Amino acid sequence: MKKIVIVATGGTIAGVGEKGKTVAYHAGEINIDDILVTIPDVKHLAYLEIVQFMNVDSNEMNPDIWMKLSNTINQIIKCDDVDGVVVTHGTDTIEETSYFLNLTIHSDKPVVLTGAMRPATATSADGPYNLYQAIALAANDEAKGHGVIVLFSNTIYSGRDIQKVNNYKIDAFDQKSFGCLGYMQDERAYFFSKTFKTHTVQSMFSNEKLEKLSSVAIAYYYAGADEAYLEYLAQHNDGIVLVGSGNGNFSKAWVRMIETCYQKYGTVFVRASRVPLGIVFSDHVFDPNQRCISSNTLSAQKARILLMLALTKTTDFKELKTIFKKY
Ligand code: SIN
Repeated sequence: MKKIVIVATGGTIAGVGEKGKTVAYHAGEINIDDILVTIPDVKHLAYLEIVQFMNVDSNEMNPDIWMKLSNTINQIIKCDDVDGVVVTHGTDTIEETSYFLNLTIHSDKPVVLTGAMRPATATSADGPYNLYQAIALAANDEAKGHGVIVLFSNTIYSGRDIQKVNNYKIDAFDQKSFGCLGYMQDERAYFFSKTFKTHTVQSMFSNEKLEKLSSVAIAYYYAGADEAYLEYLAQHNDGIVLVGSGNGNFSKAWVRMIETCYQKYGTVFVRASRVPLGIVFSDHVFDPNQRCISSNTLSAQKARILLMLALTKTTDFKELKTIFKKY
Protein backbone atom coordinates (compact mmCIF):
# COMPACT_ATOMS: atom_id res chain seq x y z
CA MET A 1 0.00 0.00 0.00
CA LYS A 2 1.23 3.52 -0.83
CA LYS A 3 2.19 5.95 1.92
CA ILE A 4 0.73 9.44 1.59
CA VAL A 5 1.55 12.31 3.93
CA ILE A 6 -1.22 14.87 4.48
CA VAL A 7 0.08 18.36 5.22
CA ALA A 8 -2.85 20.32 6.63
CA THR A 9 -2.83 24.12 6.50
CA GLY A 10 -6.47 25.02 7.26
CA GLY A 11 -9.05 26.67 5.00
CA THR A 12 -12.79 26.18 4.69
CA ILE A 13 -12.25 22.43 4.49
CA ALA A 14 -11.37 22.77 8.19
CA GLY A 15 -13.98 25.47 8.77
CA VAL A 16 -16.62 25.53 11.49
CA GLY A 17 -19.86 27.50 11.50
CA GLU A 18 -23.54 27.29 12.30
CA LYS A 19 -24.57 23.62 12.12
CA GLY A 20 -25.77 22.68 8.65
CA LYS A 21 -25.27 26.16 7.16
CA THR A 22 -22.74 27.32 4.58
CA VAL A 23 -22.30 30.87 5.83
CA ALA A 24 -20.95 32.64 8.92
CA TYR A 25 -18.14 30.21 9.52
CA HIS A 26 -14.46 30.51 10.35
CA ALA A 27 -11.87 28.71 8.21
CA GLY A 28 -9.06 26.68 9.78
CA GLU A 29 -10.77 25.57 12.99
CA ILE A 30 -10.70 21.76 13.13
CA ASN A 31 -7.78 19.41 12.71
CA ILE A 32 -7.36 17.17 9.70
CA ASP A 33 -7.99 14.03 11.85
CA ASP A 34 -11.54 15.27 12.45
CA ILE A 35 -12.15 15.37 8.70
CA LEU A 36 -10.51 12.01 8.06
CA VAL A 37 -12.84 10.22 10.49
CA THR A 38 -15.75 11.21 8.21
CA ILE A 39 -14.18 9.28 5.28
CA PRO A 40 -13.21 5.92 6.81
CA ASP A 41 -12.84 4.36 3.32
CA VAL A 42 -9.54 6.24 2.82
CA LYS A 43 -7.87 3.42 4.71
CA HIS A 44 -8.28 1.31 1.54
CA LEU A 45 -6.51 3.96 -0.56
CA ALA A 46 -3.23 4.49 1.26
CA TYR A 47 -1.38 4.41 4.54
CA LEU A 48 -1.64 7.96 5.88
CA GLU A 49 0.67 10.10 7.95
CA ILE A 50 -0.52 13.50 9.17
CA VAL A 51 1.36 16.77 9.55
CA GLN A 52 -0.82 19.53 10.98
CA PHE A 53 1.43 22.25 9.54
CA MET A 54 -0.85 25.12 10.60
CA ASN A 55 -4.59 25.83 10.74
CA VAL A 56 -5.45 29.18 9.18
CA ASP A 57 -7.66 30.95 6.70
CA SER A 58 -5.55 30.96 3.52
CA ASN A 59 -5.63 34.76 3.47
CA GLU A 60 -2.98 34.46 6.20
CA MET A 61 -0.57 32.78 3.75
CA ASN A 62 2.48 34.82 2.81
CA PRO A 63 5.91 34.34 1.20
CA ASP A 64 7.57 33.29 4.48
CA ILE A 65 4.96 30.56 5.00
CA TRP A 66 5.27 29.46 1.36
CA MET A 67 9.01 28.95 1.82
CA LYS A 68 8.52 27.04 5.07
CA LEU A 69 5.79 24.90 3.52
CA SER A 70 7.89 24.15 0.46
CA ASN A 71 10.95 23.28 2.55
CA THR A 72 8.78 20.99 4.74
CA ILE A 73 7.28 19.18 1.74
CA ASN A 74 10.71 18.79 0.13
CA GLN A 75 11.94 17.14 3.34
CA ILE A 76 8.94 14.80 3.45
CA ILE A 77 8.88 13.85 -0.20
CA LYS A 78 12.52 12.92 -0.45
CA CYS A 79 11.93 10.01 1.99
CA ASP A 80 11.98 6.73 0.06
CA ASP A 81 8.90 5.37 1.85
CA VAL A 82 6.73 8.40 0.96
CA ASP A 83 4.80 8.06 -2.32
CA GLY A 84 2.98 11.36 -2.40
CA VAL A 85 1.76 14.40 -0.47
CA VAL A 86 -1.68 15.95 -0.08
CA VAL A 87 -1.90 19.56 1.08
CA THR A 88 -5.22 20.80 2.45
CA HIS A 89 -5.58 24.54 1.91
CA GLY A 90 -8.07 27.39 1.79
CA THR A 91 -9.48 28.08 -1.64
CA ASP A 92 -8.87 31.84 -1.60
CA THR A 93 -5.13 31.62 -2.23
CA ILE A 94 -4.71 27.97 -3.25
CA GLU A 95 -3.83 29.15 -6.77
CA GLU A 96 -0.84 31.05 -5.41
CA THR A 97 0.45 28.33 -3.10
CA SER A 98 0.02 25.69 -5.81
CA TYR A 99 2.11 27.71 -8.28
CA PHE A 100 4.78 28.45 -5.68
CA LEU A 101 5.05 24.73 -4.85
CA ASN A 102 4.96 23.84 -8.56
CA LEU A 103 8.13 25.91 -8.98
CA THR A 104 9.92 24.85 -5.79
CA ILE A 105 9.19 21.17 -5.05
CA HIS A 106 12.07 18.96 -6.16
CA SER A 107 10.25 15.70 -6.87
CA ASP A 108 8.10 14.13 -9.54
CA LYS A 109 6.04 12.28 -6.91
CA PRO A 110 2.46 13.56 -6.76
CA VAL A 111 1.82 16.65 -4.64
CA VAL A 112 -1.91 17.35 -4.64
CA LEU A 113 -3.61 20.38 -3.09
CA THR A 114 -7.27 20.39 -2.20
CA GLY A 115 -9.79 22.31 -0.14
CA ALA A 116 -13.49 23.01 0.10
CA MET A 117 -16.04 25.71 -0.54
CA ARG A 118 -18.32 24.58 2.27
CA PRO A 119 -17.19 24.36 5.90
CA ALA A 120 -16.91 20.99 7.59
CA THR A 121 -20.11 21.71 9.56
CA ALA A 122 -22.27 22.39 6.48
CA THR A 123 -24.91 19.98 5.23
CA SER A 124 -23.25 18.12 2.35
CA ALA A 125 -19.81 19.61 2.91
CA ASP A 126 -17.59 19.15 -0.17
CA GLY A 127 -14.30 18.89 1.76
CA PRO A 128 -14.35 15.21 2.76
CA TYR A 129 -15.01 14.06 -0.81
CA ASN A 130 -12.32 16.35 -2.23
CA LEU A 131 -9.89 15.03 0.39
CA TYR A 132 -10.82 11.43 -0.45
CA GLN A 133 -10.12 12.04 -4.14
CA ALA A 134 -6.92 13.99 -3.44
CA ILE A 135 -5.56 11.06 -1.43
CA ALA A 136 -6.50 8.63 -4.22
CA LEU A 137 -4.80 10.91 -6.74
CA ALA A 138 -1.62 11.27 -4.69
CA ALA A 139 -1.46 7.45 -4.48
CA ASN A 140 -1.84 7.10 -8.26
CA ASP A 141 1.33 6.64 -10.37
CA GLU A 142 -0.36 8.43 -13.26
CA ALA A 143 -0.27 11.62 -11.21
CA LYS A 144 3.55 11.65 -11.29
CA GLY A 145 5.39 14.18 -13.44
CA HIS A 146 2.52 16.66 -13.91
CA GLY A 147 3.98 19.19 -11.50
CA VAL A 148 2.06 20.17 -8.40
CA ILE A 149 -1.64 19.60 -9.05
CA VAL A 150 -4.93 20.63 -7.48
CA LEU A 151 -7.93 18.36 -7.09
CA PHE A 152 -11.25 20.09 -6.77
CA SER A 153 -14.80 19.00 -7.53
CA ASN A 154 -13.86 15.85 -9.50
CA THR A 155 -11.38 17.85 -11.60
CA ILE A 156 -7.57 17.75 -11.79
CA TYR A 157 -5.92 21.12 -12.38
CA SER A 158 -2.35 22.23 -13.00
CA GLY A 159 -0.89 24.19 -10.08
CA ARG A 160 0.41 26.71 -12.64
CA ASP A 161 -2.84 27.46 -14.38
CA ILE A 162 -5.60 26.97 -11.83
CA GLN A 163 -7.67 30.03 -10.95
CA LYS A 164 -10.59 30.53 -8.64
CA VAL A 165 -13.38 31.65 -10.95
CA ASN A 166 -16.40 31.45 -8.69
CA ASN A 167 -16.52 32.63 -5.08
CA TYR A 168 -19.77 30.83 -4.28
CA LYS A 169 -20.26 27.56 -6.15
CA ILE A 170 -18.51 24.34 -5.11
CA ASP A 171 -17.21 24.01 -8.69
CA ALA A 172 -15.12 27.10 -8.02
CA PHE A 173 -12.03 26.56 -10.18
CA ASP A 174 -10.92 26.55 -13.78
CA GLN A 175 -7.74 26.55 -15.80
CA LYS A 176 -8.49 29.52 -18.04
CA SER A 177 -8.35 28.56 -21.71
CA PHE A 178 -6.55 25.31 -21.04
CA GLY A 179 -9.42 23.16 -19.77
CA CYS A 180 -8.00 20.92 -17.07
CA LEU A 181 -5.51 18.07 -16.75
CA GLY A 182 -8.16 15.45 -16.14
CA TYR A 183 -11.18 14.26 -14.24
CA MET A 184 -11.76 11.86 -11.38
CA GLN A 185 -14.61 9.47 -10.84
CA ASP A 186 -14.54 8.40 -7.21
CA GLU A 187 -10.94 7.18 -6.71
CA ARG A 188 -10.16 6.69 -10.42
CA ALA A 189 -8.19 9.36 -12.28
CA TYR A 190 -8.49 10.11 -16.01
CA PHE A 191 -5.68 12.32 -17.30
CA PHE A 192 -5.92 13.74 -20.80
CA SER A 193 -3.53 16.71 -20.96
CA LYS A 194 -0.14 17.84 -19.70
CA THR A 195 1.46 21.23 -19.12
CA PHE A 196 4.34 22.29 -21.37
CA LYS A 197 5.68 24.67 -18.74
CA THR A 198 8.74 23.83 -16.64
CA HIS A 199 8.04 22.68 -13.08
CA THR A 200 9.26 20.73 -10.02
CA VAL A 201 12.37 18.63 -10.77
CA GLN A 202 13.27 20.69 -13.85
CA SER A 203 12.60 24.01 -12.16
CA MET A 204 15.66 26.15 -11.44
CA PHE A 205 13.99 27.20 -8.17
CA SER A 206 13.60 23.72 -6.71
CA ASN A 207 17.22 22.79 -6.08
CA GLU A 208 17.98 24.48 -2.81
CA LYS A 209 16.42 25.25 0.57
CA LEU A 210 14.47 28.50 0.25
CA GLU A 211 15.54 31.26 2.61
CA LYS A 212 14.69 34.55 0.99
CA LEU A 213 12.48 35.89 -1.78
CA SER A 214 12.57 39.21 -3.55
CA SER A 215 9.84 41.67 -2.76
CA VAL A 216 7.29 42.23 -5.54
CA ALA A 217 4.09 44.30 -5.43
CA ILE A 218 1.05 44.34 -7.70
CA ALA A 219 -0.40 47.57 -9.13
CA TYR A 220 -3.90 47.48 -10.61
CA TYR A 221 -4.69 49.79 -13.51
CA TYR A 222 -8.15 51.28 -14.09
CA ALA A 223 -9.32 54.24 -16.16
CA GLY A 224 -7.87 57.34 -14.52
CA ALA A 225 -5.62 55.38 -12.10
CA ASP A 226 -3.14 57.69 -10.36
CA GLU A 227 0.43 56.91 -11.44
CA ALA A 228 1.93 58.31 -8.20
CA TYR A 229 1.45 55.11 -6.24
CA LEU A 230 3.76 53.29 -8.65
CA GLU A 231 6.60 55.37 -7.28
CA TYR A 232 5.63 54.49 -3.71
CA LEU A 233 5.65 50.78 -4.63
CA ALA A 234 8.96 51.15 -6.48
CA GLN A 235 10.57 52.66 -3.37
CA HIS A 236 9.59 49.60 -1.31
CA ASN A 237 9.91 46.68 -3.73
CA ASP A 238 12.36 45.10 -6.17
CA GLY A 239 9.67 44.49 -8.73
CA ILE A 240 6.11 45.47 -9.65
CA VAL A 241 3.53 43.44 -11.57
CA LEU A 242 1.28 45.83 -13.46
CA VAL A 243 -2.28 44.60 -13.95
CA GLY A 244 -3.09 46.46 -17.13
CA SER A 245 -6.23 46.56 -19.24
CA GLY A 246 -6.47 44.46 -22.42
CA ASN A 247 -2.97 43.29 -23.42
CA GLY A 248 -1.52 44.67 -20.16
CA ASN A 249 -2.08 48.31 -21.19
CA PHE A 250 -2.28 51.58 -19.26
CA SER A 251 -2.24 55.36 -19.68
CA LYS A 252 0.66 57.49 -20.96
CA ALA A 253 1.08 58.80 -17.40
CA TRP A 254 1.79 55.23 -16.27
CA VAL A 255 4.19 54.72 -19.18
CA ARG A 256 6.13 57.83 -18.06
CA MET A 257 6.11 56.79 -14.40
CA ILE A 258 7.39 53.30 -15.27
CA GLU A 259 10.38 54.92 -17.00
CA THR A 260 10.94 57.21 -13.98
CA CYS A 261 10.88 54.28 -11.55
CA TYR A 262 13.20 52.25 -13.75
CA GLN A 263 15.71 55.14 -13.95
CA LYS A 264 15.49 56.08 -10.25
CA TYR A 265 15.11 52.69 -8.54
CA GLY A 266 15.96 50.05 -11.14
CA THR A 267 12.50 48.53 -10.64
CA VAL A 268 11.73 45.40 -12.64
CA PHE A 269 8.25 45.53 -14.19
CA VAL A 270 5.99 42.75 -15.45
CA ARG A 271 2.91 43.52 -17.52
CA ALA A 272 -0.07 41.26 -16.73
CA SER A 273 -3.71 41.83 -17.59
CA ARG A 274 -6.89 42.29 -15.62
CA VAL A 275 -8.64 40.30 -18.40
CA PRO A 276 -8.94 36.70 -17.16
CA LEU A 277 -8.36 34.94 -20.50
CA GLY A 278 -5.70 35.36 -23.20
CA ILE A 279 -1.97 36.01 -23.31
CA VAL A 280 0.01 39.19 -22.69
CA PHE A 281 2.56 39.89 -25.43
CA SER A 282 5.31 42.49 -25.42
CA ASP A 283 4.15 45.81 -26.84
CA HIS A 284 5.96 48.82 -28.29
CA VAL A 285 3.15 51.33 -27.77
CA PHE A 286 2.51 50.81 -24.05
CA ASP A 287 6.11 49.81 -23.36
CA PRO A 288 8.10 52.02 -25.78
CA ASN A 289 11.42 51.61 -23.93
CA GLN A 290 10.89 47.89 -23.37
CA ARG A 291 11.06 48.09 -19.59
CA CYS A 292 8.41 45.41 -18.94
CA ILE A 293 8.41 41.64 -19.12
CA SER A 294 5.16 40.15 -20.41
CA SER A 295 3.37 37.86 -17.98
CA ASN A 296 2.54 35.43 -20.78
CA THR A 297 -0.54 33.50 -19.57
CA LEU A 298 0.12 34.05 -15.86
CA SER A 299 -2.34 36.03 -13.77
CA ALA A 300 -0.84 38.96 -11.85
CA GLN A 301 -0.74 37.03 -8.57
CA LYS A 302 1.09 34.13 -10.22
CA ALA A 303 3.43 36.46 -12.15
CA ARG A 304 4.33 38.02 -8.80
CA ILE A 305 5.38 34.61 -7.46
CA LEU A 306 7.55 33.88 -10.48
CA LEU A 307 9.20 37.31 -10.27
CA MET A 308 9.83 36.92 -6.51
CA LEU A 309 11.69 33.69 -7.24
CA ALA A 310 13.34 34.80 -10.49
CA LEU A 311 14.84 37.95 -8.97
CA THR A 312 16.70 35.77 -6.46
CA LYS A 313 18.57 34.30 -9.45
CA THR A 314 19.06 37.22 -11.83
CA THR A 315 18.20 40.83 -12.51
CA ASP A 316 19.21 40.57 -16.16
CA PHE A 317 16.22 41.65 -18.25
CA LYS A 318 16.81 39.14 -21.07
CA GLU A 319 17.18 36.24 -18.63
CA LEU A 320 14.03 37.29 -16.78
CA LYS A 321 12.13 37.38 -20.08
CA THR A 322 13.30 33.84 -20.88
CA ILE A 323 12.18 32.67 -17.43
CA PHE A 324 8.71 34.12 -18.01
CA LYS A 325 8.44 32.25 -21.33
CA LYS A 326 9.59 28.98 -19.79
CA TYR A 327 7.67 28.83 -16.52
C1 SIN B 1 -9.67 30.25 2.90
O1 SIN B 1 -9.19 30.45 1.79
O2 SIN B 1 -9.02 29.81 3.85
C2 SIN B 1 -11.12 30.55 3.12
C3 SIN B 1 -11.95 30.28 1.94
C4 SIN B 1 -11.99 28.85 1.49
O3 SIN B 1 -11.20 27.99 1.88
O4 SIN B 1 -12.89 28.57 0.66
